[in-house]
Amino acid sequence: MQELPEVTDPRIIDGRKIAQGIEADVKRGVEEFIKEHGIRPALATVLVGEHPPSKLYVKLKHWACKRVGIISEDHKLPQETTHEEIIELIATLNKRHEIHGILVQLPLPGHIDEREVMMHISPEKDVDGFNPLNMGKMLIGREGFVPCTPKGIIRALEEFKIEPHGMEVVVVGHSNVVGKPAAMMLLNRNATVRICHVYTRDLKSHTGEADILIVATGVRGLIKADMVKEGAIVFDVGITWQDNKVYGDVDFDEVLPRVKLISPVPGGVGPMTIAILMEHTLMAARMQR
Ligand code: GUN
Repeated sequence: MQELPEVTDPRIIDGRKIAQGIEADVKRGVEEFIKEHGIRPALATVLVGEHPPSKLYVKLKHWACKRVGIISEDHKLPQETTHEEIIELIATLNKRHEIHGILVQLPLPGHIDEREVMMHISPEKDVDGFNPLNMGKMLIGREGFVPCTPKGIIRALEEFKIEPHGMEVVVVGHSNVVGKPAAMMLLNRNATVRICHVYTRDLKSHTGEADILIVATGVRGLIKADMVKEGAIVFDVGITWQDNKVYGDVDFDEVLPRVKLISPVPGGVGPMTIAILMEHTLMAARMQR
């Protein structure tokens, strides 16, 4: 894996440091939970197929479980698994009392309807926040289990004491995993929110007005310096793998001199996402007791 230099520039959001803080709290919470209930919180992961980045992300999630004392159960299914087989596995995991959280790693192979799969994860075990009930609760401002990456972004803003109320937020990318929930969670905090996407006509005219810019497209280096407002806060959620290295959606070196804060790739929102997943698994265990 890529070696990351120590973050010394105050403009760079050190996602690993924020994640370590969250994980330390979760670890303490897990110990208390065990003392009180005599059982350990447990997360089941489901990985379908051989998508190399997904395999790595799931591995990182299992390592995080180990660090905080959560049991992790690994379900690996072949690429040709049918929709019915996945639903059956989820039904079994839903029923097992000793499993508190269920995570189905996305993307799933093309022949499987991801949205349908998400509907089958019990809302109480939906630590990723992708079940429509949890998504709907978020939409009406009752945030429970919400998608982990946007929650990590909110946590980072809190860490830097940035209050989104009244700020101009531009989200680039309209996925269910990041773009839409990030927009909704910032709207819940009274930001003025715009969502741009692949069909947006003049991207720069929008991004250039953002106080907070969140980019989650998977297009390497999409955001250049002239698309970013002076003093903006930039969250780069994109990941492109090239020659065993990962790159973000933001042209980091070019954009850095203009920003107030920026999350790097790697070492930005990735570790925070995983730490929030740990927090959600503990939260699920507490709710089920
Ligand atoms: N694929 C990319 N990001 C995520 C995530 O946050 N959760 C899951 N389950 N799959 C993903």
